[in-house]
Amino acid sequence: MHGEVTISGSKNAALPIMAATLLTDEPCVIRRVPDLSDTRFMVQILESLGASVKFEDGTLTVRAKKIRGYADYELVRKMRGSICIAGPLLGRLRKARISLPGGCIIGARPINLHLKGLAALGAKVEIEGGYVTATAKKLNGAVMFLGGRSGSTVLGTANVMMAATLAEGVTIIESAACEPEVVDLANFLNAMGANISGAGSPTITITGVEKLHGAEHEVIPDRIEVATFLIAAGATNGEVTLCGARADHLRAVIDKLSEAGVSVERSGANMIVRRKGKLKPVDITTLPYSGFPTDVQAQMMSLLALAPGISIITERIFESRFMHVSELARLGAEIEIEGPSAIVKGGRPLSGAPVMASDLRASAALVIAGLAAKGATQVNRIYHLDRGYEKMDAKLRKLGARIQRIEEK
Ligand code: EPZ
Repeated sequence: MHGEVTISGSKNAALPIMAATLLTDEPCVIRRVPDLSDTRFMVQILESLGASVKFEDGTLTVRAKKIRGYADYELVRKMRGSICIAGPLLGRLRKARISLPGGCIIGARPINLHLKGLAALGAKVEIEGGYVTATAKKLNGAVMFLGGRSGSTVLGTANVMMAATLAEGVTIIESAACEPEVVDLANFLNAMGANISGAGSPTITITGVEKLHGAEHEVIPDRIEVATFLIAAGATNGEVTLCGARADHLRAVIDKLSEAGVSVERSGANMIVRRKGKLKPVDITTLPYSGFPTDVQAQMMSLLALAPGISIITERIFESRFMHVSELARLGAEIEIEGPSAIVKGGRPLSGAPVMASDLRASAALVIAGLAAKGATQVNRIYHLDRGYEKMDAKLRKLGARIQRIEEK
């Protein structure tokens, strides 16, 4: 593929930032919000809580003048990321009642660390009938440790940080998530008048304030979309310029791509990716930020299926994030799963076949593999893809990919 692609705003930054607008009764304007089924769900959730929301051309205007602390079960159940309304509702109303988010195909997705953090701030947490209710007469700053069995929790850090902005006193989160999306949320909260320092490091300090006011913010570019396009370009031996991509959010991915024979250069606010000769096998282990991101594991597996030799991919964040392996095998990839690792015997050319998407990043991996395979590949259930990628097929077509969306009958 050749040409230029413009990167959309980050889904995983936008969702908690949209939830954070519940912390004030004043209007907030958020720009570069990607138009995805996940962000459209979050708009519905904010409206079901009583907020007025306008979303057009990537700009979101939200005014949560009067809200209720009870989120619609059906809506929250459908999108795991909606758990991040718990912190803002507790902060603003001292009460939050939401349905326990179901697990999903990549893992159980517990929320024990979220609840541990909110309880540390003084919330009484009850779980009954598939709902979690958190109530607090007062929220007091506290020192807490949010590390879990696979490192920290991104949305758990977001939830506690948002509630703590309106608690009395100082909160210190130890073993906080360091992802750029947590930093983007902290920047938005500080623009609203919060007092947060240390975001991006394992120790975040939040000094509570009386009230938060409205603010404007532009969401950071989506680093996972960037990684997906870098890998797609590498897999098709192309040369692509990514506009609005931030290389500083992707050090681990750029490092591994370089080892695999795909070069990524910065040019101003853009990145240029091109192949450097044959693909080479590499070993990957997914880790919390700034390690190799779990959300890029599936896409990388598609690339390494094309690299002659043995690559070992170890997934350390989620317990079952290898659903794409069996589908890649249908395209001719030779991959064996050994516990938390997938052993990829790369180099055999892939040939197109009908495959089934199982989750958001697996569907991106199947599109990448289909772009590199001989013949046609039909990826079914692309509603998974539409959860997290804005107009992916149109963006790929603009780069010369032969891809089209077939409307479900
Ligand atoms: C965020 O999910 C992202 N989603 C995920 O992206 C991403 O994969 C994940 O962070 C890890 O980077 C959004 O931001 C909307 P976690 P989150 O809490 O916050 C365990 C995508 O494809 N854990 O950091 O829900 C958990 O089981 C999605 O865009 C607990 O044990 O993930 C997992 O093993 C997929 N207890 C690990 O921590 C808890 O209370 C990381 O989970 C919470 C999490």
